[in-house]
Amino acid sequence: MTGRVLVVGSLNADLVVRTARLPAAGETVTGTDLVTEAGGKSSNQAAAAALLGASVVLVGAVGSDAHGRFLLERTRWAGVATAVESLDGVATGVAVITVDRAGENTIVLSPGANAQLTPAHLPAVVFEGAAVLCLALEVPMETVLAAARRGHESGAAVVLNLSPYAAVPDELLRLTDVLLVNEHEAARFLGWGRVDGDWEAVRRSLSGRGIDRAVVTLGGDGAVVFDAGAVTTVPAVPVEVVDSTGCGDAFTGALAHRLAAGDRLVDAARFAALVGAIAATRAGAQASYPTAVEISEG
Ligand code: RIB
Ligand code: NA
Repeated sequence: MTGRVLVVGSLNADLVVRTARLPAAGETVTGTDLVTEAGGKSSNQAAAAALLGASVVLVGAVGSDAHGRFLLERTRWAGVATAVESLDGVATGVAVITVDRAGENTIVLSPGANAQLTPAHLPAVVFEGAAVLCLALEVPMETVLAAARRGHESGAAVVLNLSPYAAVPDELLRLTDVLLVNEHEAARFLGWGRVDGDWEAVRRSLSGRGIDRAVVTLGGDGAVVFDAGAVTTVPAVPVEVVDSTGCGDAFTGALAHRLAAGDRLVDAARFAALVGAIAATRAGAQASYPTAVEISEG
């Protein structure tokens, strides 16, 4: 029996323009027509897990505007049950995104309603029976912490994605079962200039911060899994990158889905690497995520 995945966090309308190359400061470049896509790290994670067949609940906040209605519709279409508040007098979160020819992106966030998600918006009922709780950092830290406390109390495995990077309270780390970071977030978390491939040193340093289970994703180079002293490299799935927006969220959602189904962390990470790679081959965040059927046929 597969357990339920609970995701607490952000929803954003992604306003995307593609350009041949990203502009430098002060420079103007011309891009394609604007496309509005469903995004936001937590909404993306929830959609990724649901498309793969997980039973998923997303808790968050949007404004009572067209972007908010669009996001609710898209997220539900992906199969996510939503406990999302529509707040008056505030805009839905927006991400202004540019993507270049190589699939690299820049993102500027306007948090909007995400910044108004408070601990009071967390319905007690959603924590009951949640096997995995996914958290990222696009909503206020006090809300992330409150969710982690309640998830932990109700027996969910707390998966914390330190993205976008911010320093987090020690209590949140104590409540975290699996820390998920890319190599840049890992370096900042550890206070290093960069993570240079000495994974044994990373393991020791994480363990010194009380983290025994973690995944460091390396974009096109796969991932490294830390689990109770063991360090395992997960190879990349080689693909032609079209758009890497939201690939980390696809990875997180897929990992949560497999953890909720009872996989070991390293097996969940292998599957997640495949899902993240497929997401990179298509434009958009949620719009690029694979379904369970596509994966089984692939
Ligand atoms: O991780 C990708 C996401 O970051 C985008 O969907 C955008 O909304 C930003 O939150
Ligand atoms: Na994509």
